[in-house]
This record gives sequence, C-alpha cells and structure tokens, in this order.
Amino acid sequence: MKLFIDSGNLKEIEALVPLGIIDGITTNPSLLAKEGGDYKAILKKICQIVKGPTSAEVVATDAEGMIRQGRELAAIDEHIIVKVPFTKEGVKACKALSSEGKKVNVTLVFSPTQALLAAKVGAYFVSPFVGRLDDIATDGMQLIAEILEIYENYDFKTEVLVASVRHPMHVQQAARLGAHIATCPFSVLMQLAKHPLTDSGLAKFLEDWKKVPQ
Ligand code: E4P
Repeated sequence: MKLFIDSGNLKEIEALVPLGIIDGITTNPSLLAKEGGDYKAILKKICQIVKGPTSAEVVATDAEGMIRQGRELAAIDEHIIVKVPFTKEGVKACKALSSEGKKVNVTLVFSPTQALLAAKVGAYFVSPFVGRLDDIATDGMQLIAEILEIYENYDFKTEVLVASVRHPMHVQQAARLGAHIATCPFSVLMQLAKHPLTDSGLAKFLEDWKKVPQ
C-alpha cells in the first residue's frame, strides 16, 4: 500500500520523507492557500523532495480552462499528477488530458458511479473522500469497498487513492480492503507509528540495561 502525505507544507514534508514511508503527495487549493507564496515554486520544491507522484489541482471550472491549467501544472515537473474535480467539465478534461498522456487524479469523488466514470475516462488516480462522507453520517469506507469491487470486475487500472483521511482506523481499513493508496495529514501519519506499549517497553529495556556493568 502506498502512503501519501496530504499537505502543502514544506516543513512537514521535509520531516517525513527521511522516514522512507512516503510514496507521494496530494495538495489541493485549500492546502496551498494556507502556505502563501508562489504555488508553482512550492510544487516544484515538493516534487524535488518527494520524488514521487505529486497531485496539483486545477481551479478552472470549464473543461477548456482545466485542460490549459493541467498542461501548465504538468510542465512544472515530471512528477506532477493533474488533479481535476469530478464535474461534467472535469470528466471531459480528464479524458482530454489522459489522451495526451498526462496522469490525472479525479478528486471530490463521493459515489461508486462517479468513480466508474472517472476510470472510463482514463483517470490515473481516483480520490474518494472518506472523512467528509463520515461527517454526514455515511460510511466512507463502504464507498472504498464498492469502488474496489467495480474496478476489479472490469480490470480498470485506475488506482484508488483514499482521501480525507482523519484517523489511523481509516488507513487500517483502507489497507484491509486493498486500496492502492491512502493520503494522510501529517498528524495521522505520526499516529500510525505510535503505541504506548512500544514506548514503555523501550523505556524498561533501557533502564534494565543501565544495571549491566559496562
Ligand atoms: C485529497 O487529495 C484532499 O486533499 C484531502 O484528502 C481532503 O481532505 P479533507 O476532507 O480533510 O479536507
């Protein structure tokens, strides 16, 4: 399973990459807006640090504008994955951009049928938002299971990128279902590693070792 960091923050990215667990990154307009500065320069820097798939989202709402912005984003670095929202215009743009060889992440996906259409137009990644579904009392992980089943039925190559991850259980459930990728905020990635018994166990080992004559 691939783990991506869902962030536009260089400090967070620089802190995580040396661990060796980060396979890629997702950004979105809200995350990049928080950082300020030249978003293209930030994206370039992120690509140089992560050296893996880096999703960068268009902000146009018409297909023509999305295609133009998608080409501009893709020109920043070979690692850029053009992110388009799931709208009718986004579907058109995904078809056009993937036909010219660009990798596209179709985002803001909330239903199995949206995911089916995204795969049909050649999406490289599809991003179902589990946390935002949970927020409205709908089972986000059920959506992941249904998308995976549909993709397997037809051997679609589109990878399921579980997005809007809020806690470690989302990652664990996504992994059990066989989702290809989970993109997680920095805090969730940190929580994945934590266990109080590891901390107390290590403290005890080190304390006992002090009693051994050196
Ligand atoms: C994914 O690509 C999105 O950036 C992200 O996961 C959205 O998550 P949120 O619902 O926490 O904003």
